Amino acid sequence: MDLSTRAQLRKAIAARGSLQRELHAQARRARLAAVGDAVYFRGIIECSNICEKNCLYCGIRRGNRAVRRYRMSLEEVAACVAFIHKARYGSVVLQAGELTFPDAKEYFLAIVRSIRERFPEMGITLSLGEQDQPFLRELKEAGAHRYLLRIETSVPRLYRRLHPANHSLARRKKCLRDLRGLGYQVGCGNMIGLPGQTLDDMVDDLLFFRDGDFDMFGLGPYVIHRDTPLATPRTVAWWEERREEIFQRTLNVIALLRILMPTCNIAAATALDVFHKDGREQALRAGANVLMPSVTPSAYRHAYLLYQRKPCLDGDAERCGRCIVRKAERANLRPALGVQGTSLHFLHRTHG
Ligand code: 5AD
Ligand code: SF4
Repeated sequence: MDLSTRAQLRKAIAARGSLQRELHAQARRARLAAVGDAVYFRGIIECSNICEKNCLYCGIRRGNRAVRRYRMSLEEVAACVAFIHKARYGSVVLQAGELTFPDAKEYFLAIVRSIRERFPEMGITLSLGEQDQPFLRELKEAGAHRYLLRIETSVPRLYRRLHPANHSLARRKKCLRDLRGLGYQVGCGNMIGLPGQTLDDMVDDLLFFRDGDFDMFGLGPYVIHRDTPLATPRTVAWWEERREEIFQRTLNVIALLRILMPTCNIAAATALDVFHKDGREQALRAGANVLMPSVTPSAYRHAYLLYQRKPCLDGDAERCGRCIVRKAERANLRPALGVQGTSLHFLHRTHG
């Protein structure tokens, strides 16, 4: 399938039927040729749901009073990390709401230091929102080496509509550049199916990803959350009507990314399982090669709801572990346990 023009990319994002099957088959071929049949695992610890920001789509935004806020103790986090080691996931993703005050910075640094000390071989990915360059450097020196920061949308008009006026697309882009400059493996991503988002906007995001030369991607469908300003009766009805379209377009964007950037790591977002119970498996079949099983203790899972209908809320790390390996196998791929699974794209750009 020729994908050299914007019109072709638009058509591919909206593809259904035989065109979609062809697109996904092309993505599978690109994956096999570039990175093989391995699926890598990252155990995700949602260590705190306290956030300084107020993104209009997000369930744990500062303004949502209905959320019970938590911050896991260092001991609780250490127990999750020990589980990740035992389950042989190879990497940890430490995710939290965005916090930038000194006490929070110390907390994140202490976690990274203790993981690095206890498990020298473990991959450490951070997903802590926008942080300043000196702090990102400290985190890197403490042992973190990967960072996920979704752009959410690269389109200024849409970004403004989805965020309060003091949130800045330019600052987010600067943070992505800082991460790159510091030598991190950098991951980006967006949401598909945002109110007001057109096919052209999604094409802009794809081109932003390609031009940004990122190493990893974590992108997912927008899932409406009742307790957010973005959920009005109109957008709720709009979203419900478009569920299937949002799901299918997310798969297609994953397939396109695999074709455009074949050596990158691409995660199958948990939010896909909101739409179909084999959502993540379908993403693996469309070109994704990373799964991020939650290892967050079940007591906290209910309080970390970025979106509603989040799957696995009553699961625990053990159960998620068994289920996640089966997902890879059902997609006819090879669960690669006990390895970090570094992005080949990163290795190529740093080692020539
Ligand atoms: N639906 C889907 N994803 C969401 N995120 C935040 N709110 C939602 C939502 N309602 C995503 C954002 C953020 C990531 C941690 O969660 O893309 O980067
Ligand atoms: Fe905070 Fe991230 Fe949610 Fe925005 S998307 S409110 S930064 S947790």
